[in-house]
Amino acid sequence: MKLIAGSSNNPLAEAISAYLDIPLTQANIKRFSDDEIFVEIMENVRGEDAFFIQSTSHPANDHLMELLIAMDALRRGSARRITAVIPYFGYARQDRKTGSRAPITAKLVANLITAAGADRVLTMELHAGQIQGFFDIPVDNLIVAPVFIPHLQDNLNGDDLCIVSPDVGGVVRARALAKRMGADLAIIDKRREKAGVSEVMHVIGEVKGKKCIMVDDIVDSGGTLCNAAGALKENGAKEVHAYVVHGVLSGKAIERITASPLEKMVITDSIAATEAIKKAHNIEQVSIAPLIGEAARRIHEERSISALFK
Ligand code: R5P
Repeated sequence: MKLIAGSSNNPLAEAISAYLDIPLTQANIKRFSDDEIFVEIMENVRGEDAFFIQSTSHPANDHLMELLIAMDALRRGSARRITAVIPYFGYARQDRKTGSRAPITAKLVANLITAAGADRVLTMELHAGQIQGFFDIPVDNLIVAPVFIPHLQDNLNGDDLCIVSPDVGGVVRARALAKRMGADLAIIDKRREKAGVSEVMHVIGEVKGKKCIMVDDIVDSGGTLCNAAGALKENGAKEVHAYVVHGVLSGKAIERITASPLEKMVITDSIAATEAIKKAHNIEQVSIAPLIGEAARRIHEERSISALFK
């Protein structure tokens, strides 16, 4: 088994390597003066079960291209099996045609990864589970519950918990967590009554006097979570917390979140934390390295992954 790190998230790759007690295989990743990317695997991988770890996070196109080139290098280096380990799968939000001549870029990215040489994909909390079907190779889409539930139980136990989906699209994820935690469920329904009039947030469910915990797959600009946190407070929530898998946190997201009524937002390290994230008083990062490492080991040993979630 060989582990190779792309340049998107070295701390996570190091942590997976420490969990598995397998050193990272050296790779030479560099850019030419015109920004073309070059990846060379510096150790023999002939006949090996190779895992290349790369989130397609910001800068998404560079990290994606690096992943594709690494797949090609591993294939030409005669690796026996190549797994693209993509803790954060970018472009996942472009998973359907949103207009007459719009692309489905998540499908295009799946095609590219497969054509480049991946034999399988290991990822986490895809924006939409159906994206697994965009690939014609096996995809293991890990769920975050084994990481978030112990953290929730250690920090926010009690009978006044309410799990909240910050939008209608996240109800399945929120309902699953509420069921596992034995907590109530609420949903925020955003509506724009008329064009040009700002959105109204309807809170469906009882949140008054409750500790509300929003769950989402992605926090990007922070708009969804911060607006939802405001609506929950207006509806009498005692505290508002958030658990989000992928901290994309672009633009002014961190300022927005630190100034919001969110007591705490817990994110994973699927995307490497910037200094600003590390300094933010109400953002905490928890690691998915043991979960990804364990899943990789089970893939290597041809053992069940679903057993991790029972
Ligand atoms: C949307 O469907 C996703 O689940 C997230 O709610 C969304 O991507 C968050 O984006 P932002 O933080 O920019 O509101």
